[in-house]
Amino acid sequence: MIKKAVIPAAGFGTRFLPATKAQPKEMLPIIDRPTIQYVVQEAVDSGIEDILIITGKGKRAIEDHFDRNHELETRLEEKEDQLLLDEMRRLSDMANLHYVRQRELNGLGDAIRYARHHVGNEPFAVLLGDTIMDSVIPVTQQLIDTYAQYGGSVIAVEEVPHDKVNRYGIVGGKSLSDRILEINTLVEKPNIQDAPSNLAIAGRYILTPEIFAMLEQTPAGKNNEIQLTDAMLLLLKRENLYAHRIEGKRHDIGNKLDFLKTTVEFALKRPEFADKFRAFLEEILRKE
Ligand code: UTP
Repeated sequence: MIKKAVIPAAGFGTRFLPATKAQPKEMLPIIDRPTIQYVVQEAVDSGIEDILIITGKGKRAIEDHFDRNHELETRLEEKEDQLLLDEMRRLSDMANLHYVRQRELNGLGDAIRYARHHVGNEPFAVLLGDTIMDSVIPVTQQLIDTYAQYGGSVIAVEEVPHDKVNRYGIVGGKSLSDRILEINTLVEKPNIQDAPSNLAIAGRYILTPEIFAMLEQTPAGKNNEIQLTDAMLLLLKRENLYAHRIEGKRHDIGNKLDFLKTTVEFALKRPEFADKFRAFLEEILRKE
């Protein structure tokens, strides 16, 4: 039903400088895979067939990563490393990938505007290119299921500590079930005492194509950027919006501490070195 996804990946990544001065933050690896590969995999695992990546200045490495590299393949053939060779070929075959460049970095809402022509008149998924989800059922699939049930745009949310709501976009609304909320308000970084809940927008969305008309009407907001949250507030006046409390864990790779935590958590799940890595962590913690 939802076959197209948009992955915004054009941002500066200022929170991760200097590493992101000349390389996209979406290419920062968690163990041996760049962040954006996990994101594309989630989309594919959710039944998405067509992906538009919003790129920009200094983001060539993303396109190269998902492209064929014949020289490398020849070298792996010579080395008879069939496993790696298959993995490299699978990478360029994961989905129909398309790219469009955001000319100026005018915010997430502006980035989504570039998808209008590609998406057309269908609902579509948005997955932030710097956010990895760790879940049993892919988070985008969870949102697609909620869209199928309720028929309006769906925003992934997760609970955050009450004293940290001022760092996130927060939703408020009426609970329809254990995980679903009908949204009646959205606020970007509210004061702690004014927050309508502790449910934070978590970097995955299903949007109806009406969002494009709303984005055209959205004035520049915080940091002089077009905010997707502001456009969704306009959408809320015309359509029902739903929040889905995700089953899984969000990892914001654009944040240095989260990046470190994610690396450790994912390493502890990799059978080939989990035991050795755990022993190493225990040893250094003992010495602290
Ligand atoms: P962020 O706000 O986390 O990205 O946007 P940023 O602006 O790169 O972050 P900092 O604060 O400077 O470190 C979430 C996602 O949206 C993309 C980013 O690449 C990231 O994957 N994005 C953001 C765009 O594609 N265009 C923009 O104008 C802004």
